[in-house]
Amino acid sequence: MTTGKPPVDVKADVFPPGRPKEKCAPSGGSEPHIVGSVGAVQPVVYGSSDRPPRGDYARDGQVRPDYTCPQNYAAYTPADHDTYRRLYERQSALVPGLACDEFIAALPSLGVKDRIPRFEEINERLYKATRWEIVAVPGLIPEVPFFTLLANRKFPVTDWLRTPAEFDYIVEPDVFHDLFGHVPLLFNPVFADHMQAYGAGGLKAHGLGACEQLSRLYWYTVEFGLIRQKDGLRAYGAGILSSSGELQYSVRSPEPQRIALNLLRTMRTRYKIDSYQQTYFVIDSFQQLFDMTTPDFTPLYAQLKTLPELAANALLPEDAVIQR
Ligand code: PHE
Ligand code: FE
Repeated sequence: MTTGKPPVDVKADVFPPGRPKEKCAPSGGSEPHIVGSVGAVQPVVYGSSDRPPRGDYARDGQVRPDYTCPQNYAAYTPADHDTYRRLYERQSALVPGLACDEFIAALPSLGVKDRIPRFEEINERLYKATRWEIVAVPGLIPEVPFFTLLANRKFPVTDWLRTPAEFDYIVEPDVFHDLFGHVPLLFNPVFADHMQAYGAGGLKAHGLGACEQLSRLYWYTVEFGLIRQKDGLRAYGAGILSSSGELQYSVRSPEPQRIALNLLRTMRTRYKIDSYQQTYFVIDSFQQLFDMTTPDFTPLYAQLKTLPELAANALLPEDAVIQR
């Protein structure tokens, strides 16, 4: 996404940190684009983007070689805290009936709602729950540092907040997307283990030239996944959970396709970065997702190289379509 606003409605933040995005381009175009260099680290923008990097990577030398930095809490203004409070209020009012039970159960663990939380306050609870920690980063980070942090049970959280003009829509992930969208499920033991395994798998995929394929799985699960629960479809993907428009659209709208998650199918499927998803992939439980993704993906990656990519709105005869 390089230019302006999305064509439909408003769409909040959707990007996994470390994952610069293609725009339904052929694979290979999505390596992080490093721009210049500041001290030990380099600012990162989306793959083919000519947008200037967002976030302060210099920070008087405070960004470490692994891209983590102290949360710059003193930089938040009263207006920032108020924007966060309003984002939290709107989004938490929407989650009943739309977000999965595990998310709703864990949301209070984020703590304060009326200001931007201090990451160490969240970490006191998070580490006890699942031995995960959140770490501050200045913005997008490259794939290898991103996967390395996850493999070590550290989730990178961008520390800056969107401006009030970006209340409904922001291109790069900010502290609200990262905290509200991603962190509650890190309190769930099965999902927490899955994220660590994903990090280790990412490092392997990097060595096999398969990051694009694996990132599609991340996109359609961790960012835009739906789950079937006892009362019906619910959202668990962070890009959905932090977006007021897409949370309602993904669960309730008759428009998008909803298909049971199949690894090969999902990793062949390109995705849209500048509109709501045309296809959502659905799991039955986090245990199912964990079990499905545990086997070695090496043969899958080899098989994927022989198969054509699929458009974001493709529908195959063998797809298990899920009715709401
Ligand atoms: N099992 C996968 C592999 O061998 C790694 C992985 C784990 C991928 C969890 C996604 C989620 O590459
Ligand atoms: Fe994200």
